[in-house]
Amino acid sequence: MTGSRPVLVVGASGYVGSRVVRGLAADGRAVLAAARRPLPDAGDTVIPVRYETVADLPDAVRAACDRAGAPLPGAVVASIGGWHKGAALLDDDPDRWTATLASHLTAHLDAARALSPLLEPGDPYVVINGSASREAMAGSGAICVTGAGLAMLVQVLRLEAAEAGSGAVRFHELVIDHAVAGDDRNVDPAQTRTAAQVVHALGEVLDQPGAPAVVHV
Ligand SMILES: NC(=O)c1ccc[n+]([C@@H]2O[C@H](COP(=O)([O-])OP(=O)(O)OC[C@H]3O[C@@H](n4cnc5c(N)ncnc54)[C@H](OP(=O)(O)O)[C@@H]3O)[C@@H](O)[C@H]2O)c1
Repeated sequence: MTGSRPVLVVGASGYVGSRVVRGLAADGRAVLAAARRPLPDAGDTVIPVRYETVADLPDAVRAACDRAGAPLPGAVVASIGGWHKGAALLDDDPDRWTATLASHLTAHLDAARALSPLLEPGDPYVVINGSASREAMAGSGAICVTGAGLAMLVQVLRLEAAEAGSGAVRFHELVIDHAVAGDDRNVDPAQTRTAAQVVHALGEVLDQPGAPAVVHV
């Protein structure tokens, strides 16, 4: 594969990430689909990237691009995290809190540190977040707190990139304000968003250098 620089989707094995991969590919974009778990074949324009830890990811991306004859990515979409409902925060297993901090917040910082050096000045780096980042949800406390922290993380990364000048990537947060249609982990959602709506909003952020810092869909 040669041609335009692919979009790197991290968390490509997830409910949202896998649909983002398929949607971007269906729109004719080259896609690098990165996950620690094996991925199903997603078609000719999707290059799978298997990795063990985020620290290994840049080398895994370079190797996958080499093998496919593709250029390095021109954009990153981080769809890392997810949602669950369980015990109240005061009653929850402390290990779950620690694990959620690691997977829903620290992993995003690790990914941004590892992957932004692969990008060129002005390239987009889009972090996907959920409604729990804005709305307190009983039983999902760790998700809410890490989601709120993730929103601030993106703001700080964007501010620091601006202060670094023209050599920096542009950071955005794409907040999916409702359950994504078909995800059975969301019980009786009041509203849903389709994968197509998510991919459309994402495409606009990827393509428009002047896209807002925070976009809701
Ligand atoms: N599903 C929905 O209805 C919905 C609605 C609104 C917003 N969202 C947002 O969409 C985003 C993704 O959610 P999702 O529902 O797709 O979650 P998901 O199905 O649980 O997938 C999340 C992915 O994150 C990756 N991941 C987890 N821990 C990681 C770590 N420490 N390092 C690197 N990757 C890690 C996993 O991939 P590997 O383990 O294979 O690497 C996993 O496939 C979240 O921000 C969520 O808030 C989802």
